[in-house]
Amino acid sequence: MISTGSIADIQALISQFKSEGKKIGFVPTMGALHEGHLSLIDAAKEKADIVVCSIYVNPTQFTNQDDLKQYPRNVETDKSLLENNGCDVLFLPSDDVMYAGRNTIKFDFGDLDKVMEGKFRPGHFSGVALIVSKLFNIVQPNYAFFGQKDLQQLTIIKKLVEELFFNLEIVPVAIKREPNGLAMSSRNERLSKEERHEAQIFYKALSEAKLILKQNHSAENAKEIVKSLFSNHRAQLEYFEIVNDKDLHSKTKNYLEADTVLCIAGFIGNVRLIDNMYLIS
Ligand code: PAF
Repeated sequence: MISTGSIADIQALISQFKSEGKKIGFVPTMGALHEGHLSLIDAAKEKADIVVCSIYVNPTQFTNQDDLKQYPRNVETDKSLLENNGCDVLFLPSDDVMYAGRNTIKFDFGDLDKVMEGKFRPGHFSGVALIVSKLFNIVQPNYAFFGQKDLQQLTIIKKLVEELFFNLEIVPVAIKREPNGLAMSSRNERLSKEERHEAQIFYKALSEAKLILKQNHSAENAKEIVKSLFSNHRAQLEYFEIVNDKDLHSKTKNYLEADTVLCIAGFIGNVRLIDNMYLIS
């Protein structure tokens, strides 16, 4: 695996690969890699000739400075994981390379970034769109791979690609779960063993709400079930929404459709977790 923090180096490598007719698959990450990331790499290996990963903890997408400070960073472990799992090139830029003190461009995705994560973390998706645009321009991939766990991020990045005419295909990859159902996330590293056990409530809530909706109960019933699960639990519910995956508008009827997805977010201690589940899968 070739590892570099230089834009010139990475662009020279990519041009070389492209001149040989190779397709580039790109997996952008913030590090603290887990099996979920490895499934993105597997998907990239299947579709592309060369797999490029980036590790960069992007400050502009953090709306809480403590969260940024506490975000897990394990670069050496990450490097060996990538090396052993078929990553060809690692882009590991510094803040100076990515921002050079500048952070002036803001994105606004209309309704898409005002709900759910956007409502609780205003400015988050502007930071995501900014860094993803920079990375796409640097790496110029043919395919870019994103986990479905960050469903709203995926929807917004698809919009970004469409509206800014990025010449690449976004490939969504299914959520990877722990045996207890907990969606894999770098933030899980900050949970104690006991908290990891308790964090399965998010999966449980999604599963129970899904069952209720499949039995033709109303959104209100599903929301009641979720609220009551959390009411006697140490985890704190931030939101539970039933939306369609295209414009993220709330659904109030016709749940049994392929675009219906249940989304949840909340805290275990001071660790914020999100998860989602399609109604039909
Ligand atoms: O999903 C993530 O890890 C990040 O939001 C991303 C896409 C790498 C941008 O920093």
